[in-house]
Amino acid sequence: MSVTVRVPAKVNVQLAVGAARADGFHDLANVFLAVGLYDEITVTPADELRVTCDGPDADQVPLDRTNLAARAAVALAERYGRSPGVHLHIAKDIPVAGGMAGGSADGAGALVACDALWQTGAPREELLEICAELGSDVPFSLVGGAALGIGRGEQLTPLEVGGTFHWVFAMAGRGLSTPAVFREFDRLGEGTDIPEPVASQELLAALAKGDPDALAAAVSNDLQPAALSLFPELAGTLAAGRAAGALTALVSGSGPTTAFLVRDPESAAAVAQALLASGTCRTVRTASGPAPGATIAGR
Ligand code: C5P
Repeated sequence: MSVTVRVPAKVNVQLAVGAARADGFHDLANVFLAVGLYDEITVTPADELRVTCDGPDADQVPLDRTNLAARAAVALAERYGRSPGVHLHIAKDIPVAGGMAGGSADGAGALVACDALWQTGAPREELLEICAELGSDVPFSLVGGAALGIGRGEQLTPLEVGGTFHWVFAMAGRGLSTPAVFREFDRLGEGTDIPEPVASQELLAALAKGDPDALAAAVSNDLQPAALSLFPELAGTLAAGRAAGALTALVSGSGPTTAFLVRDPESAAAVAQALLASGTCRTVRTASGPAPGATIAGR
């Protein structure tokens, strides 16, 4: 008996960041769009909690109890007074430390998989609560689609999306640590007045219409200057994608993955090819969104 759950990556089409709070986190207005790049988490009963991983970036994934998939299994087991004895296997396709919520996807996937395997019958609200304890982006990995996240990003409101958006993603040669990028955001903003983060009405309207030109004009990422400051070569990747005809180019979340919005699958293929040829990234992927959240793919 095993359960497999498929979970999408995300791109932030808006990431508005406020000043650091007393708890060290930052208030956000975070507009998430789930895209069709997936990790698959398979859970099988075992004597002890064990994590394995395969995929191109598998060697960078921690296999101990710091892995969000392991933490999710432990959190659910504790709530239901049972042993977390499971083997969690992660088939990883989402870049590691890439700003696309790959770790969060594994946390949400393991939670849904263990819930199904153990037949806990936990209400969705409780699963979302556990997700929020695991990390700011984990609730969105569970729900997918598109959503506005406020607070740390964990308080979600689902958003209407009126069409399919096509993207190219350029993966970098190394990762970036999310806390380090937020610290750099704080450093760059020292002595300045940082406004309250608010969702852009133009952006929400563009999503609702499914209009890629309007979305391209409205995207923003307040973490981008911090990511570029820590990883200046990303500027070259963004420029290469723009020159190749992307409607817009931005850093995905805390980076270093860069995201390029394009009009259709044909332009996605052309921009992907040009980005690879530019030599400014490690690899490229195309994907479209919105994509569904954590979904049971097999039992
Ligand atoms: O919630 P999560 O564990 O994903 O956050 C990772 C780190 O990113 C936090 O420890 C914090 O440094 C930073 N962060 C933040 N404000 C947020 C979300 C994350 O400062 N809203």
